[in-house]
Amino acid sequence: MKETILVTGGTGFIGSHTTVELQQAGYDVVIVDNLSNSREDVLDGIEKITGIRPAFEKVDLRDASATEAVFQKYPKISGIIHFAASKAVGESVQKPLLYYHNNIVSLINVLSMMPKYGVKGIIFSSSCTVYGQPDVLPATEETPIKKAESPYGNTKQINEEIIEDTVKSGSPIKAILLRYFNPIGAHPSALIGEMPNGVPQNLIPYLTQTAIGIRKELSVFGDDYDTPDGSCIRDYIYVVDLAKAHVCAMTRIMEDKTTEPVEVYNIGTGRGTSVLELIHAFEKATGVKLNYKIVGRRAGDIEKVWGNVDKANKVLGWKAETPLEDVLASAWKWQCALRERGIM
Ligand code: NAD
Ligand code: WQD
Repeated sequence: MKETILVTGGTGFIGSHTTVELQQAGYDVVIVDNLSNSREDVLDGIEKITGIRPAFEKVDLRDASATEAVFQKYPKISGIIHFAASKAVGESVQKPLLYYHNNIVSLINVLSMMPKYGVKGIIFSSSCTVYGQPDVLPATEETPIKKAESPYGNTKQINEEIIEDTVKSGSPIKAILLRYFNPIGAHPSALIGEMPNGVPQNLIPYLTQTAIGIRKELSVFGDDYDTPDGSCIRDYIYVVDLAKAHVCAMTRIMEDKTTEPVEVYNIGTGRGTSVLELIHAFEKATGVKLNYKIVGRRAGDIEKVWGNVDKANKVLGWKAETPLEDVLASAWKWQCALRERGIM
């Protein structure tokens, strides 16, 4: 029997790529999104790639009765992947209540429906941001959680605790927390990808927008860190590889293979790449020369972080496979496709 998975935030960056992988693995998908940070035509891209248009409900998950109506309309939902959230770190500092309200109430509404509608399990989008600057690298799942640097980061910590407390209370659900490192890139078809609103805050969209001429130059935030070339280090994970991790995790839930009440996995490559290394890899992968300059450090930046992903490799049977240059080429192809479509 085909299982039906509710993908919240499914027209967003990671949700759309995960929908593609779920459908290609044989799952039926119902997307719920309020389109606050995505567009409905993402569904066209998903349909072109997979040949299947996922069911779509434009619903705000802060609205409990509208959320419940989704479960009534699709009684076969047996698993949930919960991506829907507001995710801009800087904005969360300016508008903390918006972030606490959206990210926490949406999760509570979704979790509350699960026992009533017989939903077996949930996968939650968490983040390496919960580790802050780890004292020891790479970060494992046991690395201590540090006090959050932003309201956004705090919502990830609180939501992890809400899920843990709910499962501990005896709720008959399985839960997997996936802590993503830095997701980048786009589907190789360039039919779906990342669609930042306004001036991008994240490195890759700023870089590709600079390369295509939307931005004048990329600022590299600091070259005086305690790293080999002085720029910050991150673990950049290809969004398609990340999407596949969700399929592995969902299959584990559906096949009753989970062994802990709430399982936690780091999802990254296990390798750190500096900002300058990334720029040079982009230039090599695309042949495009990037205009960049070194500027001062960005407030609140972590110096270096990358993940130990042994647990995901061994237990989920998942591994990040795509070489960095292919990932960067996919981001560039996507930026060019947006230009061709007259979007950016
Ligand atoms: P995204 O903004 O592209 O996707 C999130 C989607 O959720 C958007 O389509 C938005 O419209 C929708 N949404 C927001 N609030 C909603 C609500 N109340 N009701 C219904 N839909 C709502 O973001 P993304 O990069 O795809 O991130 C997905 C998840 O992964 C988020 O939870 C994010 O915090 C987490 N995450 C992202 C990153 C990253 O760097 N992209 C890293 C770690 C974790
Ligand atoms: C990456 C590197 C910057 C832009 C943020 C959130 C985190 C997570 C992912 C969700 C850093 C440098 C960037 C630029 C630059 N999201 N940079 N010039 O900061 O690792 O993490 O997004 O949970 O919570 O904090 O990602 O893409 O912003 O930056 O030099 O114009 O690129 O200093 O070293 P970050 P990022």
